[in-house]
Amino acid sequence: MKPLVQVHNITAAYDNNVVLSNVNLDVNENDFIGIIGPNGGGKTTLLKIIIELLKPASGVIKKDPNLKIGYLPQVNSIDKQFPITIRDVILSGRFVNDKWWSKPSKQTLQKVDELLEFIGLKNVHNMPIGELSGGQMQRIFLCRALMSNPNLLILDEPNTYVDKTFEASLYNLLGELNKDMAILLVSHDVGTISSMVKTIACVNGGLHYHHSNKITNEVLQSYNCPIELVSHGHVPHRVLKHHEHE
Ligand SMILES: Nc1ncnc2c1ncn2[C@@H]1O[C@H](COP(=O)(O)OP(=O)(O)O)[C@@H](O)[C@H]1O
Ligand SMILES: [Mg+2]
Repeated sequence: MKPLVQVHNITAAYDNNVVLSNVNLDVNENDFIGIIGPNGGGKTTLLKIIIELLKPASGVIKKDPNLKIGYLPQVNSIDKQFPITIRDVILSGRFVNDKWWSKPSKQTLQKVDELLEFIGLKNVHNMPIGELSGGQMQRIFLCRALMSNPNLLILDEPNTYVDKTFEASLYNLLGELNKDMAILLVSHDVGTISSMVKTIACVNGGLHYHHSNKITNEVLQSYNCPIELVSHGHVPHRVLKHHEHE
């Protein structure tokens, strides 16, 4: 098991407001970690620290020299007014590997076409992103994250606005992608998550790591992360209640 990212004893704060303390997490090759926790618990903040969009107040992060991250931001953090087309958003994912002044290679352009085809938006590839629905935005930013051929894919609530049909193909795709890359997936949908991921981290001011995808009420309660079981049709869903850590 090769570690890609090792988070040691991280504290994160905005101004002087501490939102994460003493967080430890190893992300290894081929991991598929589901990150759950209540709103405001610090999930996005943890991802930002791993991606180095935010400096930790204290603690250390070690990264494999060959680490290449693909990142799908939470949709509400994307500026939809920015005047850029669907195709160019996806293409911009190449700058993780390419120099900004370089021309895209034939293979790169072909990859953009394949990804556009996959998300069913090939015929509208020149549309400005301002005209898209939240679900379409998420698909496009997933493609952008995949452009760099990452070995760690980080997804912040990719299923928030996605319709049920695409959600099923998204989850199939993630299963396939996990053969070649580690995945960190933040989601509110604990029911779906636990059937897909290999392990689970509960983030709520701190982090509790659970070495399995079987997450029961008892387990979460023992981590001080109580949940409620709600049923939609045949599929049991677990929804996190707001809760405080020690
Ligand atoms: N840019 C920011 N400036 C100040 N506070 C922030 C900022 N981003 C997040 N926070 C605060 O940090 C806490 C954790 O937020 P976040 O990491 O977004 O949680 P989650 O993703 O689990 O919902 C929340 O209380 C939130 O209000
Ligand atoms: Mg978030």
